[in-house]
This record gives sequence, structure tokens and C-alpha cells, in this order.
Amino acid sequence: MSARVDLYDGAYTNYGSRVYEQVRTETYGHDLGQTSWVTREESGQIPEMLRLERDSSVLEVGCGSGGYALYVAEKAGCDVIGVDINAAGVQNANHLATTRGLGARVRFEQCDASKNLPFNDKTFDAVFSNDVLCHIPGRLAVLCEMFRVLKPGGRMLFSDALVVGGMISHEEIATRSSIGYYVYSPPGENERLMKQAGLRQISATDTTENAVRIAKRWYESREKWKSDLVQLEGASNFEGLQAFLSCVHKLTAEHRLLRYLYLAEKES
Ligand SMILES: C[S@@+](CC[C@H](N)C(=O)[O-])C[C@H]1O[C@@H](n2cnc3c(N)ncnc32)[C@H](O)[C@@H]1O
Repeated sequence: MSARVDLYDGAYTNYGSRVYEQVRTETYGHDLGQTSWVTREESGQIPEMLRLERDSSVLEVGCGSGGYALYVAEKAGCDVIGVDINAAGVQNANHLATTRGLGARVRFEQCDASKNLPFNDKTFDAVFSNDVLCHIPGRLAVLCEMFRVLKPGGRMLFSDALVVGGMISHEEIATRSSIGYYVYSPPGENERLMKQAGLRQISATDTTENAVRIAKRWYESREKWKSDLVQLEGASNFEGLQAFLSCVHKLTAEHRLLRYLYLAEKES
């Protein structure tokens, strides 16, 4: 088995360090504090796909550092609540909201989304989750919770980078899973479970190429800044993350792992 590698604690506690900012900018082309496979284009499209307006109230499940929720609030002018299981991510997110003067419209809470979401039924106009559901056990229960907190007519969106598209060895599964708990999905399963949760699917878009591109750029940028990153992360974690990124690149480039972006609605 691959040794356990840390991605999220390091990314969120070192959020403000210059080298982490530099790696994010080189990887994504702009810095929204990402730790995902969401490209700049996809970041820009999500608010439109969710039809966000100034008076929308929005939930992000697995908000990480908080940077993307703040971007959404600024772009659409809406209210956003972000939840994440990672305490350092939530702390960073609330700090960013305050320092950017968005504390009245955006807030973040620590929450394990494998449990019931701490919100009333029909609270949000939109719910989204970028590359998070693969980390959470009980996909149907999570989708049912996202459905429950959505208002009728509201939209939900999530991405899953772990749709199995071909043969994968046990070593590849171990390296791909080295940063935490993961659930791999057969093709068609997310579509089936969304329907079972009560959601009407609008689209399922193959965005595997986004993961191919981001994994390559992320790996290359980290190689460039290796000596600074080793000081912050330690040599063994640095190499572990490089092996993880290289594995993501290989599996997605060969279409043995696929990434899909799903858009659905709760009918009125
Ligand atoms: C791939 S990162 C994506 C973060 C952010 N959405 C982005 O685009 O950068 C996955 C996130 O899911 C969070 N996560 C993992 N398990 C979770 C759970 N059970 N409940 C809530 N968040 C969870 C992690 O802490 C991490 O921030």
C-alpha cells in the first residue's frame, strides 16, 4: 500500500505562503485557493450553470480554503455558506471572508457532509460541490441531503473525478487513494443515484481533459518550486504528492479514470 500523504492540511495551513500562491497561479491560471481539478473556464461557468442571481442563497459542500465560494459571492453578488470537514480550511475561509469585507454575505462552517447537513429543508437556491463527493461515504445519502436543503426549482451541481473508465491496478488505486478516503464509481451510477434522490438530471459532461491538464500543470509547478515546498511539507510528503499527481495524470490521460460534471434540478 502507498503511505498516507497529506494534501489538504498542508494546502490550507500554508494557504498564504508565497510558494503555495505561486503554484496555484501556475496550475490554474488564477488563484482561487483551489485543491481540485476545476479549470479557470469551469470556475467561470459554474455560477451561470446554477443560474445564480443577486438574491440567491447558495451552499458549497467541501469548500476547502473558501476562495471559490468568495469568488462566486463576488461574481453573482449572492449569499454563500461553505462547509468542509477540514478545520484549517474553514478557519482560512472565514479569515478570507472577513479580510475581503464579505463577512456579511459569506460564512463557513466545519461539517462532515457524510452526516445530515445542519440546515433546514428548502433553504438554498443552489447547492454545489467541486471534486468532494468522491471523499464521502454514502453517495445516495449525500445526494438526498443536497436535495433536501434545495428549494423547489433550485439547481445542484457536482463533479466526480473517480468514474472508472478502464482497467486499474491495485498499485494505481493505492497511489490515487493515498491522500484520503475515496469512493470509485462505475459509469452511470451517479446518474442513477441522482434520480433515486429525486433530482432531475440536466446534463452530465465529460470533463476528464480538465483533470489531465490540471494534474500536469500542478505536478510541473511543484517540481519547479521543489526546494521551497520540501521545506514546508517535508521530502517524503513532497514525493508522495508528486506520485499522486503523476498517477492522476496517467489514469485520466489514458481515460482509465474519468471526471464528470453533473448538473441537476429539484423540480418545482
Ligand atoms: C478536492 S478538495 C476540493 C476543495 C474545493 N472544493 C476546491 O475546489 O478546491 C476536497 C475537499 O473535500 C473536503 N472533504 C472531504 N471529506 C469531507 C466530508 N466528509 N465532509 C465535508 N468535506 C469533506 C476536504 O477537506 C477538501 O477540502
